Amino acid sequence: MNHGEIELNNLSIRLKDKIIFKNLNHIFNRTTLNFIVGENGSGKSTLIKALNRIIKVDNGSIFVDGKDINDISVEWLREKVSINFQQNQFISNLIKDHLKFNTDFDSKNYSKAMSKIRKYINSSIGDVSLITELSGGKRQLISLYSSLCLNPDVLILDESFSNIDKQTTNFILKTLRELKSEITIIIITHDTSLINEDDNVLNLSKKIEV
Ligand SMILES: Nc1ncnc2c1ncn2[C@@H]1O[C@H](COP(=O)(O)OP(=O)(O)OP(=O)(O)O)[C@@H](O)[C@H]1O
Ligand SMILES: [Mg+2]
Repeated sequence: MNHGEIELNNLSIRLKDKIIFKNLNHIFNRTTLNFIVGENGSGKSTLIKALNRIIKVDNGSIFVDGKDINDISVEWLREKVSINFQQNQFISNLIKDHLKFNTDFDSKNYSKAMSKIRKYINSSIGDVSLITELSGGKRQLISLYSSLCLNPDVLILDESFSNIDKQTTNFILKTLRELKSEITIIIITHDTSLINEDDNVLNLSKKIEV
């Protein structure tokens, strides 16, 4: 991946005849952190599933570095775009299986940031070795970190801070901000206090009919 720019071009998605969104245009890039906000059901998770080719779009296109995602192999796409899904699922109950970070990654900044987070996690989980023995927030933290361990070009965090305390969230976000020029980072959140003035925000909110 080159600059890791993601462009939504006149994107429309329907699920079972329900229009989720229509003619959406937006660009995510590496100059800032990127956020997607909007109320429950506004289509945030649907949008990232489309980006990963888990669901199809009806109209319009998604470009990654100028290439239509339909012209890229799905394996390549999913290797480059790491999504931390809303419902964390662990394939192994061993914490160590999820903390496999290859220190050979060439980017210095990335290694530094990963070591910082790793240190924080180690001190936070102590000698617990099983996922099922962790609190919900700490599980979420391991899941988030394991998405970063994949050395992605694009990292998408879908409500990845919802159970994580404020202090830890601030620490992780500050560290992610150090990586924003290396990884395209897209954060889906209901907590708008995480967003800075110069961040890039896509708001999927629409009026709720009552
Ligand atoms: N498989 C599906 N089939 C039909 N409709 C679906 C399907 N998955 C989601 N939807 C609908 O699509 C809309 C958008 O859902 P989505 O999960 O993208 O919302 P969201 O913005 O991520 O919400 P939340 O903040 O609750 O996570 C909702 O109305 C939902 O009911
Ligand atoms: Mg969602």
